[in-house]
This record gives sequence, structure tokens and C-alpha cells, in this order.
Amino acid sequence: MLSLKSETPPDWVARIEPHMDEVLVDHAHCEKKAAGTAMNMIFSYVEHPQFVVPLTEVVEEELLHFRQVIELITARGGKLVGQPQSSYGRRLGALIRTAEPHKVVDRCCVAALIEARSCERFTLLRDHLGDRHLADFYGTLLESEARHHALYLRLAEHFADKGDIWSRLEHLAGEEAAIVADGDPIPRLHA
Ligand SMILES: [Fe+2]
Ligand SMILES: [Fe+2]
Repeated sequence: MLSLKSETPPDWVARIEPHMDEVLVDHAHCEKKAAGTAMNMIFSYVEHPQFVVPLTEVVEEELLHFRQVIELITARGGKLVGQPQSSYGRRLGALIRTAEPHKVVDRCCVAALIEARSCERFTLLRDHLGDRHLADFYGTLLESEARHHALYLRLAEHFADKGDIWSRLEHLAGEEAAIVADGDPIPRLHA
């Protein structure tokens, strides 16, 4: 159960497969950003240990994924380079309300949706990539991204009622589906 409001079209893997070197660079940045998101939440809510402690595990896992993707890029003869910010992350970030506790609920919901979309796409890559080595790698990442998705939604419950969280998640999931449908000029995991 991933809370997403749209399904990635089945031809998505075939479309990005010729660009996997670029997708891996984007993927590395995504893992780095995922670690940063969890770390930023630790900074913001450090006075709530039950909220913060599970996030330390997320930081560690995302940094491990970051390292693994860099190793893959290097093994393929590539190099991690900078890239323009994705409109996906920027537009989702802009939906986060500014006053607490709405802010923390939205930060958790947005993070949960990004994890869910990663999980959905990693599943497609595992099942349909022709490069079996790469497909197997995506298979190994699935479980932790699904777990992160569920964790962010659970963490939001430190600050709001379940009902409020779910109605906000419904709304943000609709926005996420619209944003992902707009795509991106460069091949990316979330475009
Ligand atoms: Fe990750
Ligand atoms: Fe994750």
C-alpha cells in the first residue's frame, strides 16, 4: 500500500533504459537528498527523541544507497556529476505548509510520497530492465524504500491525528501524481 494516486505507465522502463547512465546519476542525487531530508528533520525536531531516533536509521540507509549507486556508476566507467534541481522535488517542496504542526505533517507526507514513488519505480526496474545486474540491484533497494514510506507516515502521528494526516496525504498524493505526469527534460527516476 503505497498511497500513490497514479501508476507509472508500463512503457516507462523501455523509455529510460537507453539512458541508464544518466538515470543512475539522478538516482545517486536522490539518495543523497533522501539522506539530507531525514537529517534536516532531525535538526528541526531534535527535541522529540521518538521522532528523531528512527530517522537516524533512514540517514544511514540512504547514505549506504548513495554509496552503492556511486560504486555502480564508477564500475560502469561513469562519474557522479552535478545536475539541475528536479522540478519534482522543488514543486513538492513548495506544497509544504509553513506553520507547525502542519509543516511537519507535510514534510512527512511529501517524504513518504517520494519514497513510495521510488519504491514503485524500483519495482518496475527490477521486473523489466534488460540489464539483469542492474535489475537485481533495484530489487535489493525496494524493501527499505517501502519501509521508509511507512515510517514517515507513522512519524507524522507524533504531531497530528491519523485522520488529518490521511486527508492531507490524499491531497498531496493527487498533487504528486500531477507533478510526476509533467515529466522532466532530462531522464530521471521521478520523471
Ligand atoms: Fe534509498
Ligand atoms: Fe528511502
